[in-house]
Amino acid sequence: MLYKSATVAWEQVSNNAGAIALANVDCRELLAAIPDESISLVVTSPPYCMGKEYEPGNTIEDFVAAHEAVLPEIARLLKPGGSICWQVGYHVSRNTVVPLDYLVFDVIRRLELPLTMRNRIVWHFGHGKHAGRRFSGRHETLIWFTKGDDYEFNLDAVRVPQKYPGKRSTKGHNKGEFSGNPLGKNPSDIWDIPNVKANHCEKLDHPCQFPVALVRRLVLSLTKEDDIVLDPFSGVASSGVAAGLERRRFIGAELNEGYALIGENRLKETLEGVVRVRADTEVIKPNERSAVARRPDFWPEMQSSV
Ligand SMILES: C[S@@+](CC[C@H](N)C(=O)[O-])C[C@H]1O[C@@H](n2cnc3c(N)ncnc32)[C@H](O)[C@@H]1O
Repeated sequence: MLYKSATVAWEQVSNNAGAIALANVDCRELLAAIPDESISLVVTSPPYCMGKEYEPGNTIEDFVAAHEAVLPEIARLLKPGGSICWQVGYHVSRNTVVPLDYLVFDVIRRLELPLTMRNRIVWHFGHGKHAGRRFSGRHETLIWFTKGDDYEFNLDAVRVPQKYPGKRSTKGHNKGEFSGNPLGKNPSDIWDIPNVKANHCEKLDHPCQFPVALVRRLVLSLTKEDDIVLDPFSGVASSGVAAGLERRRFIGAELNEGYALIGENRLKETLEGVVRVRADTEVIKPNERSAVARRPDFWPEMQSSV
């Protein structure tokens, strides 16, 4: 399950149905061990280069250089019809904000990698730092590229409930008939999924886990059972959990041994069916009787909002 050798990790996953492997190595070592056109989905959140101890530097130039090294390899090992989903936010330094997805897009364009963008998904979440001199950031993005036009996309696997399922057509030959799809509607390119903060049931000892639900939707729509999912910057293996829960194979790299060990434990729990995950449909409403949900009586009236 956790390997110190990229080659052994790849052998495990390529030779065994349902296999899951995490390699405690630099992702460049793992990518070099994977043959051309063998991965169906690459999903990851790379380091943002903002001074965290695990990052390769703390400037935008460091971020771009790391992507110039890794993205051509990722494009090489992706199967025709496969997908890359790159989840990033913003590089913030001295109150100056740079959108990282545009830098990733620009590397792919400049290096003329054989990838076509299909969506920029806005991941909206409810919690984060409160900004004082700009609006508080409550979203990041996920950019989706495919290799070729004939790509896997199973929309029916990820439809969500309609707001007005009882709506009927008002004209045309279907006038009077229910107009919605009985399987639900397209989830759109704005995804409202809670981020993994202190009270989230998936929270582990990692500063920036992404929620399993975010990856699960991608795994379900962009791959088939037993396809191979790769996360080159695995952290605590959230992508591996999503892949394992949906009976896909998984291979990941994580450089930090501590995070890799937590990830290994989580992958074991996934295979044993005891891993803790939060469903994307779970809505947490504040308990109105709880003290933290009430405005203190002595606070002044709020200004009307616009
Ligand atoms: C943004 S975090 C990913 C978190 C992950 N999505 C999760 O849910 O746990 C990026 C991770 O990449 C790891 N990392 C940084 N450079 C790496 C490299 N060259 N090879 C492999 N992992 C690396 C870091 O240790 C960190 O855990």
